Amino acid sequence: MRLVPKGAPMTTSILVVYATTEGQTAKVARFVTDELRLAGAEVDCLEAGTADPRPEEYDAIIVAASVHASAFQRPVEQWVRRHAAALRQRPTLFLAVCLAVLQRDPKVQAELQQIVGRFSQKTGWTPAEVQFIPGALRYSAYGWLTRLVMKRIAARAGGDTDTSRDHEYTDWAEVRVMTLGFLAALREGAPTMP
Ligand SMILES: Cc1cc2nc3c(=O)[nH]c(=O)nc-3n(C[C@H](O)[C@H](O)[C@H](O)COP(=O)(O)O)c2cc1C
Repeated sequence: MRLVPKGAPMTTSILVVYATTEGQTAKVARFVTDELRLAGAEVDCLEAGTADPRPEEYDAIIVAASVHASAFQRPVEQWVRRHAAALRQRPTLFLAVCLAVLQRDPKVQAELQQIVGRFSQKTGWTPAEVQFIPGALRYSAYGWLTRLVMKRIAARAGGDTDTSRDHEYTDWAEVRVMTLGFLAALREGAPTMP
């Protein structure tokens, strides 16, 4: 089920599939979609679990999901596992939204790589390119217990502990650069394949 109409032969069609728990990855997926469309690509942006798009119908696929308790959302894992064979045949980019990327500690960075490694093992898909994107502390979206836990984690990691408001760390200029870089590589025919 491809939603965008078939365009001119030179048009690049891209599927963006995302999973989100508190909404930041949905915001990233929408931003990426808008940037790609502005640059002339045809884009379908769908939330995993609400639809089952077929990667075969697109030139390239961007998957975006966020890290919670060292894992990505189950619906995105299930979609990727179902379509791993097709994803392996296409240029792909995995946007991993998290907070640990803000910590410079090499041990923390190694843990992030392990989280993606476990995701690859479970799904059978090794993304050609992975970008870790700083997400947000959305205190307003948490229940009281999660708010308390996240405040403690933030305090230990040197993050923001004012729970009366949300804190966004996503660098939109950086997301724009990586999105347009991916599109440029696709158009040059030097896309990222595993
Ligand atoms: C309960 C909970 C657990 C989290 N666990 C991790 C984690 O293990 N590693 C990490 O880097 N970030 C973790 N985060 C931070 C999220 O990845 C970050 O808030 C991200 O922006 C969430 O994206 P979303 O709003 O799309 O769900 C956690 C956040 C929450 C609320």
